[in-house]
Amino acid sequence: YPIFAQQNYQNPREPNGRIVCANCHLAQKPVEIEVPQAVLPDSVFEASIKIPYDKSIQQVQSNGKKGDLNVGMVLILPEGFSLAPTDRIPEEMKTKVGQLYYQPYSDSQSNMLVAGPVPGKDYSQMVVPILSPDPAKDKNVNYLKYPIYLGGNRGRGQLYPDGSKSNNNIFNSSVSGKITEIKTSKKSTSIVIETSNGETITEKIPVGPTIIVSEGQAVKIDQPLTNNPNVGGFGQAETEIVLQNPARVQGLIVFLITIFITQIFLVLKKKQVEKVQLAEMNF
Ligand code: HEM
Repeated sequence: YPIFAQQNYQNPREPNGRIVCANCHLAQKPVEIEVPQAVLPDSVFEASIKIPYDKSIQQVQSNGKKGDLNVGMVLILPEGFSLAPTDRIPEEMKTKVGQLYYQPYSDSQSNMLVAGPVPGKDYSQMVVPILSPDPAKDKNVNYLKYPIYLGGNRGRGQLYPDGSKSNNNIFNSSVSGKITEIKTSKKSTSIVIETSNGETITEKIPVGPTIIVSEGQAVKIDQPLTNNPNVGGFGQAETEIVLQNPARVQGLIVFLITIFITQIFLVLKKKQVEKVQLAEMNF
């Protein structure tokens, strides 16, 4: 859950570029992000996020039963950018955002937003309303091109913050030996393995993954005892946005108009010269 990241990591993006969700959501699946190429200062624009997956697939839940997948994401905007206040979001954008609720990553990081977990069937596409900063008011912001990072996830993670494995995992044998007994209860399965030197160890497997070994079978160390039930995955993507100075755009337009008029005058002058040349011609 994003809250696990918020509680355990001050910055959701590690120096090497990895977004921390990947530490517990071990499988990789793609995500997409789209933003405008450029935005003007102090304006509201939208980021469109996609966390695609096959909606017909179900995953194992913590109680071992099958259920639908949820999605969640973290969006790392440039310094100064933030979630747009409700009163500045146009009606049309509001309908696209829907009931989805975005939160700052922490009190001091309003440029990083998190959402979820929310049902993937409804929110595998998300629209985030964003307010751009104004360099005239905020001296830390400049008219530049900035990177935007997205981390998006569908499905349950493999590790809890305390390091323990979730049941949405593959379970391996910790020793080589022979399976002498498989005991199944409501909450877990115990697999008793006898090693070659007569020791017995018990692998406890929570409900969820399917046991793929049987009594009497010989297993090697690290050999899977279960299938891998995980159908979800985490992905990250990045894009860029230009914070554009309106004066630059106006300047460019004035310049282009000047060029256009100059060109026309040059053609007119040429026509005039041609007329004079024609009049002065002697045969
Ligand atoms: C579950 C997203 C970080 C461990 C989930 C779910 C979402 C999600 C959407 C629900 C999946 C479902 O029910 O189908 C994220 C995002 C993260 C993040 C976007 C980063 C911002 C982490 C971290 C950890 C973690 C850092 C480990 C410390 C888990 C676990 C579950 C889970 C163990 C399953 C919980 C359960 O059902 O018992 N996460 N997560 N997640 N997440 Fe994360």
